Amino acid sequence: MSASLQGLRIVVSAGPTYEDIDPVRFIGNRSSGKMGFAVAQAAAQRGAQVVLVAGPVSLPTPAGVQRIDVRSAAQMHEAVLAQLPADVYIGAAAVADFAPAQAASNKIKKTAGQDTLTLTLVRTRDILADIATHAQRPRLVVGFAAETDHVEAYARGKLENKRLDLIAANRVGVAGSGFESDDNTLTVYAADGLAQALGPAPKTALADALLELVAARMPT
Ligand code: C5P
Repeated sequence: MSASLQGLRIVVSAGPTYEDIDPVRFIGNRSSGKMGFAVAQAAAQRGAQVVLVAGPVSLPTPAGVQRIDVRSAAQMHEAVLAQLPADVYIGAAAVADFAPAQAASNKIKKTAGQDTLTLTLVRTRDILADIATHAQRPRLVVGFAAETDHVEAYARGKLENKRLDLIAANRVGVAGSGFESDDNTLTVYAADGLAQALGPAPKTALADALLELVAARMPT
């Protein structure tokens, strides 16, 4: 019997962000959105009122979920914060850390003899950190950490620095896990020392297991 999330308002972010360089080019990443969409679906199945803020992905909207489509990190930041107050925020999106300082209004052309092109990138605002320190902070703030190495150390660092309640860490760059895959392996860390391994399993099963942890940790 899975714990109900009835009556809770849960905001989930999913997918990559695209940061425009000019009208035809952008900086993106390999996030498919599958993990975040699975989390949104599992939360709706447990009775929560779910808002899914999605970056550019080609996935169907889970039944019963309200979806808001965005493109850039700045748009995702604005859309997510506009959903407060909420009981839970789960940041499963792979948000760009840097974006072009300014998108060129016309297509950037190469010129004869030009060997290099320098783009100036600026830090994006951290949605998760801003949510976790917001005056209307959700009661539970959950992050994801996709890492190629030192998974636990980096995940625990983010848990602390971003003032999160839970972080779900996964190793990317290995077959059968992480971006684009239907399956994943997560380890969920909490500030109180919890380290719970989930999977390897389909992202749908992992999403439900993550929500079981969320439900158990909802302050009453
Ligand atoms: O620091 P890093 O990007 O690895 O942290 C990953 C977590 O932070 C994810 O939950 C992601 O959704 C969130 N994040 C964010 N806003 C950013 C960068 C990351 O919410 N600008």
